[in-house]
Amino acid sequence: MIKNISVNQLEEALHEAYETCRTIEGGANADYIPYLANIDSDLFGISICLGDGTVLSRGNTSYEFGIESVSKVHTAILALRQYGADEILDKIGADATGLPFNSIFALLLERDHPSTPLVNAGAITACSMIKPKGDSDGKWKAIVDNITELCGSEPHLIDELYRSETATNYNNHSIAWLLKNYDRIYDDPEISLDLYTRQCSLGVTAEQLAITAATIAHDGYNPVTDKQVFDAELAPKVVSMIATVGFYEHTGDWLYTAGIPAKTGVGGGIMGIMPNVFGIAAFAPPLDEAGNSVKAQAAIKFIMNKLGINIFGSTRVETVGSD
Ligand code: DON
Repeated sequence: MIKNISVNQLEEALHEAYETCRTIEGGANADYIPYLANIDSDLFGISICLGDGTVLSRGNTSYEFGIESVSKVHTAILALRQYGADEILDKIGADATGLPFNSIFALLLERDHPSTPLVNAGAITACSMIKPKGDSDGKWKAIVDNITELCGSEPHLIDELYRSETATNYNNHSIAWLLKNYDRIYDDPEISLDLYTRQCSLGVTAEQLAITAATIAHDGYNPVTDKQVFDAELAPKVVSMIATVGFYEHTGDWLYTAGIPAKTGVGGGIMGIMPNVFGIAAFAPPLDEAGNSVKAQAAIKFIMNKLGINIFGSTRVETVGSD
């Protein structure tokens, strides 16, 4: 079936999702560091970005929250831009681990590659690969420039978050040095881990993540800045990685119920990609036991169901946006 979705329909779905999900109770802020624990639990926002650059928003969509693991997608894209799809498959991989994001067990099982840039091991390896090698400042600039191009505007480092993450990331230190042990890290492990920790501590808004998602959904073309950020042929690779492991060990349940590849972060953000249709992002701090935002999940599922679209369904959206 071919479907046309108008701006009015999208706005209605967005409005209903916001009103329905804002009162959902349950979940708790991430509590492993004070910064995340102390964020106002009532913050909630949803943004949708269309292929013509229109951004539709409800709620706190200009609030800057910790991007956390959603940043793994951005840096995977940068690694793909710098090395191409084949080398990333060879050096990192594109498989699900079926285990939590920071699993050391997963790394022990798959010594020959870290599985995917969307879990901690692969994300640290991706940071190690970013050029210019051995130059922490140059690598950081490349990471931030890439995120800026994808978001359409600059993200800002949340210093307090960065300091707390750095003071508590013992597990990630183990991952970085195990990667070194298996010869699967391509720069200094401490520099690579610091870059990963810093990128997780960047503040972004739901609007910025919706723009990133729309850029992936439209073959690397950022519809807000009107720039081709990455080669079109890389977009399906990125979407396949997100579909495979965006919710870690709960990815199957998410795809089954929501029908849209999406990536989560413990800052409360979720970014979803509906290829050739739109990018969507939602943000609310309280997380479920698996570490995924309760309201953001509910809001994205609501909108997908309301619009009657699903990446695995036979309904194809022909036009979106034009009334
Ligand atoms: O690696 C960590 O522990 C965090 N900075 C990122 C955690 C995260 O967002 C996991 N995904 N949902």
